[in-house]
Amino acid sequence: MIVIENAGGIRIHARGKPRVLVPTMGALHPGHGRLISHGRSLAGEDGSLIVSIFVNPTQFGPEEDFTAYPRAPQEDQSLCRAAGTDILFRPPVEEMYDDLDGPGLSADARLIGTLCGPDRPGHFDGVCTVVEKLFRVIKPDIAVFGKKDYQQLTVIQQMTRELKLPVQVIGAETVRDEDGLAMSSRNRYLNPKQRSQAPAVYKALQKIREHGSPESSVRIEAARDIITREAPLGKISYLQVVDRQTMQEIKTIDRPALAAAAVHFGKARLIDNIEIGPIPRPMTEADRSIDHLNQF
Ligand code: PAJ
Repeated sequence: MIVIENAGGIRIHARGKPRVLVPTMGALHPGHGRLISHGRSLAGEDGSLIVSIFVNPTQFGPEEDFTAYPRAPQEDQSLCRAAGTDILFRPPVEEMYDDLDGPGLSADARLIGTLCGPDRPGHFDGVCTVVEKLFRVIKPDIAVFGKKDYQQLTVIQQMTRELKLPVQVIGAETVRDEDGLAMSSRNRYLNPKQRSQAPAVYKALQKIREHGSPESSVRIEAARDIITREAPLGKISYLQVVDRQTMQEIKTIDRPALAAAAVHFGKARLIDNIEIGPIPRPMTEADRSIDHLNQF
């Protein structure tokens, strides 16, 4: 594994095809590890796997944790090496930005009216700005992002389509601790009491998936009850059901949807989501005969 800090180094060292990129902000945990291993398998023996570690200042709001964001360069380097990274790209801020206040890209406004968008003004613009820069300097054929940040994945896929960037953006499944808590660099902010309550967020989302009502609001109330009861230290920022493609809120769960939550535990803002589908209706005679025909 080669560690480089300037973009020119990538041109020299990334030889094989496909070139696969896994962008991160470091403080890596086994969830990132799984993403990087997935990247390794997509790159294959001939391709190159590049992991970037860059805590991007433009995606943090003024009240957010940019300076306090956890940094662990030695541990990150070991994890990247163990997961089969060819190039670790760790640029300083000056390599990525001439002017932090300069103009950046804007996320598609239609996708950020829900979930984290209203809570974090400017956040997705900062994400688009840095990811497009990474794509430009690294020129990946494939880039891997986690479904843990589903709205981010959707915003980046849209940006890639809109700007016609020649990169395939792939979503990878959320990796969880054994008790269901989605792994996150921010979990290390949790004290033991908060940590013991945090899995209630996933439990609440599962409730939304498994509840029998077609109405989102009914399911959301049942989920809210779980968090209130099992995680009294948690402060719900949002609990929503949205269309999985448009990120618009939906009242009735009649299409592929996403149940998503953001809950604050002290200074840690945890987010999570799960994919949910329409309620399957009972099979009719007509379905059965079609099903039968499909077997041939
Ligand atoms: P970061 O929070 O470090 O996450 C890097 C990548 O890891 C993202 O694609 C994220 O969705 C994924 N990831 C984090 N936790 C995960 C988990 N438990 N399971 C699966 N994937 C997980 O997201 C960012 O950094 C930044 O916004 C970035 C895209 C790098 C732009 O600065």
